[in-house]
Amino acid sequence: MDAPRIIVKPPGPGSQQVMERDKELVMRVMYNYLPVAFKRGEGSILEDVDGNRYIDFNAGIASMALGHSHPEIVEAIREQAATLIHNSRHTGYLEPYLEVAEKLRRILPGELSSGRVLLVNSGTEAVEAALKLARYASGKPGMIAFMPSFHGRALLALSATASKAAHRKRLTGLLPPTFHAPYPYPYRFPGPPEKAGSFTLQYISSMLNHLAPPDDVAGIIVEPISGEPGYIVPPDNFLPGLRKIADDEGLFLVADEVQSGLGRTGKIIACEHWHVVPDIVIFAKAIASGLPLGAVVAKREIADAWEPGAHGTTFGGNPVACAAASRFLDILIKNRLHERAAELGRRLLSALRELVEEVENVGEVRGKGLMIGIELVEDKDTKKPAPKLAAKAITRCLEKGLVITKCGESTLRICPALNIPEDLLWRGVEILSETLREFKT
Ligand SMILES: Cc1ncc(COP(=O)(O)O)c(C=O)c1O
Repeated sequence: MDAPRIIVKPPGPGSQQVMERDKELVMRVMYNYLPVAFKRGEGSILEDVDGNRYIDFNAGIASMALGHSHPEIVEAIREQAATLIHNSRHTGYLEPYLEVAEKLRRILPGELSSGRVLLVNSGTEAVEAALKLARYASGKPGMIAFMPSFHGRALLALSATASKAAHRKRLTGLLPPTFHAPYPYPYRFPGPPEKAGSFTLQYISSMLNHLAPPDDVAGIIVEPISGEPGYIVPPDNFLPGLRKIADDEGLFLVADEVQSGLGRTGKIIACEHWHVVPDIVIFAKAIASGLPLGAVVAKREIADAWEPGAHGTTFGGNPVACAAASRFLDILIKNRLHERAAELGRRLLSALRELVEEVENVGEVRGKGLMIGIELVEDKDTKKPAPKLAAKAITRCLEKGLVITKCGESTLRICPALNIPEDLLWRGVEILSETLREFKT
C-alpha cells in the first residue's frame, strides 16, 4: 500500500457508520482515542473503511513490532492453523510452545537464559501469573509497586497498577496488599531531576523500615521504562538500586517488559540498558505480532517452587500464537531490529528535541529506541499537563495521515513498528512537527 492518502476528512462516512453500530453494541467502558474504523494494515500503513491511509506511529499500542500482516508472520499463522489450531497444553505437549520457550531463553541475560517459561494470553495475565508466582515462591503476601505505573486491569495486576484512579473505582477494598513508591519521573521531580532516582530508592528503604516489613513483601514489580504513565525513562541509578534493595532484603525483582521488551527500546529487554537481570520477566504485546500471547520467564529455583496445578490456562501457549511468536523472534534476531530501533531512536530524539526549543507547549522529549514520548504542557514554567492540546494534536495528525496516540496525561507516544521504513518514519515526524509548530506561541 502507498501512503499516506486522505480522501475524506476522518471520520469519513464509513467510519461514522461503524462508530454508530459500535455505540449500540459495545459496552461504553471501552474508550477510544481515534474516531476512525480501520479495515486493513500493511507494514506501517493503516487504511480506514473510507479508503484513507495513514502512517502508523502506534503499531497496535506497541504490539505490531514487524508492522501489520508481515508476510512471514501470515505464513507462519496459516501453516500452523492448517496443522493444529488448538489443543490445550494441559491435554498434551506442544512443540510450538517449546520453540517459543527456547527462543526466549536464548536471548535473555544471566540466569534467565536457563529459566523456566510460562505462556499465557495477554500482558495482564502474564502480570497476574508473575505476581502469583512471586507470592507463592516467597510465601509472602505483599508487593512493592510504583505510582504511576501500569500492569493491567485484573485484580492482582490492578493492585500493582497506579495509573488512573478510575481503574480502581469500586474495587479498592478488593485489591491485595501493595505498597506504592513514586516512580522516578525526572521531568516532574520537585527538585534536581538527577535526584529523582535516589529519592525513590530512599523512599523504598524507608517504606521497608516503617510500613512494609520485608518478611511480608514478596518482591518489587517495575516497568524498567514506564509505558502507559507517559514513556518515562528513570535515572540511571534506579534499576541497579532496585536490584540492590531486592538482593539485600530478600525480595524478587519482577520486570514488566510488556511494553518495553523485545527490542522496542534498543535492547532485547529494557533492563539491559542498566545491566540489571530481574528474577522474573514479563512479556506480551509484540511477542506474537498481533496474536494474543503473554510470557513469564523466571529464574529456575523460583519457577520450580510453583507446584503443579497452582496455576493453569486453557489457551495460554496456543499453537497458532506460538507459531507467530516463534517466527517473530527469528525475524527480530536475524535482522537485529533492536539495534535498528536504538539507532533510529537516537536520531529521532535529536530531531524531536528541537521542538522543545521552538514550541512553548513541548515540555520534554524523552525515550529510548522506538519508545519515545513528547510531553505537552500548558507552558514551560508551570509544566501543567495539557490533555486538550494532546487531543487536538492527535486529531490534527489523523487529518494529515498520521496515527498517533497519547500516554500519561498529555504525552504523545511514538511506538512504530521496529521495521518501519525510514521514509515513512521521517514523513510521520514531519507531520507531527508541523502540527506541534502550529501551537507555537
Ligand atoms: C507495562 C504493561 N504491563 C501490562 C499491560 C497489560 O497488557 P494487556 O493489555 O495485554 O493485558 C500493559 C498494557 O498496556 C503494559 O503496558
